[in-house]
Amino acid sequence: MAKEIKYGMVGGSLEAFIGEVHRKAIGFDTRVELVCGCFSSREEKNRLTAEAYGIAPERTYADYKAMAAAEAARPDGIDFVSVTTPNNTHYDICKAFLEAGIHVVCDKPLCFEVSEAEELVKLAEEKDLVFGVTYTYTGYTMVKVAREMILSGKLGEIVAVNAEYVQDWLLDELSAENRGKQKNDAVWRTDPAKSGISNSVGDIGTHMENMISYLTGLKIKRLLSTVNTYGRALDLNSNIIVEYENGVNGGYWCSQVAAGKLNGLIARVYGTEGAIEWEQHYPDYLKYTPKGGAVQILSRGTGYITEAAGAASRLPGGHPEGMYVAFANIYRNVVSTIIKKKAGLAPDPADLDFPSVREGLEGVKFVHAVISSAKADSSWIDM
Ligand SMILES: NC(=O)c1ccc[n+]([C@@H]2O[C@H](COP(=O)([O-])OP(=O)(O)OC[C@H]3O[C@@H](n4cnc5c(N)ncnc54)[C@H](O)[C@@H]3O)[C@@H](O)[C@H]2O)c1
Repeated sequence: MAKEIKYGMVGGSLEAFIGEVHRKAIGFDTRVELVCGCFSSREEKNRLTAEAYGIAPERTYADYKAMAAAEAARPDGIDFVSVTTPNNTHYDICKAFLEAGIHVVCDKPLCFEVSEAEELVKLAEEKDLVFGVTYTYTGYTMVKVAREMILSGKLGEIVAVNAEYVQDWLLDELSAENRGKQKNDAVWRTDPAKSGISNSVGDIGTHMENMISYLTGLKIKRLLSTVNTYGRALDLNSNIIVEYENGVNGGYWCSQVAAGKLNGLIARVYGTEGAIEWEQHYPDYLKYTPKGGAVQILSRGTGYITEAAGAASRLPGGHPEGMYVAFANIYRNVVSTIIKKKAGLAPDPADLDFPSVREGLEGVKFVHAVISSAKADSSWIDM
């Protein structure tokens, strides 16, 4: 059966990290076909990736500009592009595809500058193009359950928020032996030319910011931070106090030098009637504590999960799901939205449950506020 829509990818050559995750996640949805790409700016990597995916040589592009122009000109051109390159390239690539009239999905952080992010929002909205930003973790079923509980008032009024995203993979970079050496390709994250003004806040802190925003709907009004670089150009460890528009405070911690931590994204939300805690290492479970009651462990794939949140599950409970499915859920909704728009139909609210370019803009603002506050002796910075 012919696929309903087609996509191309920029970045994501075979040895890259997240491009392959995007392709597998998109592949969960049988409605979409990968037909072209500029998988690397290096010719051989680009060609080998294209061959591995059976991409025609004439649709294997040497650069993203040629890809945007050629695909926009083809009657069977792509419906959307998936951008999985390092951060320094996001703005130019996204802009090129938006200008060519092609829907975009881009990985986070959206871009370097707030003004660039605002321009991408404006372009996407003016051209009525779909623009998803892959804040992966909002795609998990139990995150959706937590969100439903919070937004329906089950926790009462929110009084405290605490979140962390902590890893340890840059500890080695700090050792005398490795300092200054490029150990692996992912270390582009510590290079300001590729990563921008921030390493860890941009890389993982943006996920934390987006997670709390998705779960609670709270908007950060201002924040203050401390940032540790430990002699490197960019941040490796940050502590952030935020103040939401309703006056409630939250505490966030973001680190890539926390020994033993892998991808430790944790969100804790406390209300007048109870609390929730979700941890990405155990994504199929949600800890819920009603005020004065026993701690309850809620689980995916069970009868008490609502149909709406349960729709994000792809396997029966007890069979562990994971990051691929969280990613796939974001793409499924993006794809449904694009298909409906193409047919002249309005997407329904469930289709629109994916992080958009507006959330991408919030992430860029967050990064700038955290770094600006640290530079200003931890003073309050408005978002
Ligand atoms: N959402 C998530 O959970 C998540 C996880 C990891 C990475 N990311 C984000 O994904 C992006 C990529 O990260 P990664 O770890 O996969 O990096 P990576 O270094 O593993 O891969 C980058 C890829 O982009 C290609 N590339 C670089 N410049 C290019 C250009 N001008 N044109 C075409 N291809 C180009 C490289 O050849 C490589 O294939 C980053 O923005 C990162 O923040 C998101």
